[in-house]
Amino acid sequence: MSEIVAARTPSYSRIELATLTSRAQANLLGNIHGGEVVKLADSTAGVVAQRHSGGPAVTAALDEMAFLEPVRVGDIIRTFGQVNWVGRSSMEIGVRIETEPWDAAGEVLHVGSAYFVFVAVDAAGRGRPVPALEPETAEDRRRMHEAEVRRAHRLARRQEIDAIRARSSALPPSERRPR
Ligand SMILES: CC(C)(COP(=O)(O)OP(=O)(O)OC[C@H]1O[C@@H](n2cnc3c(N)ncnc32)[C@H](O)[C@@H]1OP(=O)(O)O)[C@@H](O)C(=O)NCCC(=O)NCCS
Repeated sequence: MSEIVAARTPSYSRIELATLTSRAQANLLGNIHGGEVVKLADSTAGVVAQRHSGGPAVTAALDEMAFLEPVRVGDIIRTFGQVNWVGRSSMEIGVRIETEPWDAAGEVLHVGSAYFVFVAVDAAGRGRPVPALEPETAEDRRRMHEAEVRRAHRLARRQEIDAIRARSSALPPSERRPR
């Protein structure tokens, strides 16, 4: 594990990965299975989280994943990942997914975007502190603000659902069954 540093910029850990899709990744329609795209995005985010935090980090949540276009067998798929926001031990990593269609050299399609929460962990699997994030550009600051909105919504949603469950578990069992 590297030494503890106070802050890192998004560009320190930003990465781009590229791979060629194959038939083994196809779904029944012959396009690339959505789970394959999620796996690639998760792996990209994992590399970014490990770079930013200087050690191991695990996926805690996939906050949002939008599929905008199908990916076809033979397309080149590229993922771009960067840290958008950091807490004490958690980090939001944004991943943009693009393809270069096999039959349209040079064309670039934005096929999806995903937002992962990773937690940096120590050898015992407990959260460990991560360096602060030092945004460098207006775009970095926009991403940080958007990540704060996602986090606020996530926490509010969790509180609301916890309150519903608490009310529901206060009901007698016969009232709790779905009708
Ligand atoms: C992620 C994990 C380490 C969190 O452990 P935990 O004991 O719940 O941790 P804490 O409650 O102390 O929270 C630690 C941080 O994680 C964040 N966190 C935990 N669960 C989260 C979730 N579902 N979504 C977003 N953030 C989450 C907390 O907000 C906190 O952030 P902060 O330190 O920046 O304030 C633990 O749940 C874990 O190991 N999960 C399995 C991870 C894994 O195997 N991933 C691969 C999936 S196949």
